Amino acid sequence: MNMEGMEQQQEEEKAMLHDIAAMLREFEKDRGKLIPILQIIQGKHRYLAPKALKMVAQHLDISSCEVYGVATFYNQFRFTPPGKHEIKVCLGTACHVKGGGIILENFERKLEINAGETTPDREFSIERVACVGCCALAPVAIIGETVYGHMAPSKVEGLIMGFEIEREKEKREKEKIEQTQ
Ligand code: FES
Repeated sequence: MNMEGMEQQQEEEKAMLHDIAAMLREFEKDRGKLIPILQIIQGKHRYLAPKALKMVAQHLDISSCEVYGVATFYNQFRFTPPGKHEIKVCLGTACHVKGGGIILENFERKLEINAGETTPDREFSIERVACVGCCALAPVAIIGETVYGHMAPSKVEGLIMGFEIEREKEKREKEKIEQTQ
């Protein structure tokens, strides 16, 4: 990750921890509240930073290990900030049968990250998900809000290239605007 990206992540994490400290005051020290607390944090901040898990553990008076164990048990939680383009690859039964695993592998290979990770420039992240309800289009990938059906390895390449071209265009536009100022 470049310097700018690291600073951005640190700033975001600082704001997240500040927010969590305030939120935890609303919750009594009840171990049964662990999952709802993690869900609220992820819903608001989109991932669970290690320091956030530690704060939750301290508040509920349980070990960080236990919090981490519970969080990793459920697929719904992620531990790194998601990318600008969140790629979700369905591995439900219909998609699995139609080669969803190969689609996932292609995204992983193309972006050089594994499922659950984010690229160092924070442009892309990959997640595996269970059935998203459009099995007739299997195998399915979702990027942002868009569903891509009948996925094929060749489509993976094209999709990523499309986003990269878009990014390049935005960069050029930005540079043009800066030059005219
Ligand atoms: S199994 Fe993938 S959409 Fe249903």
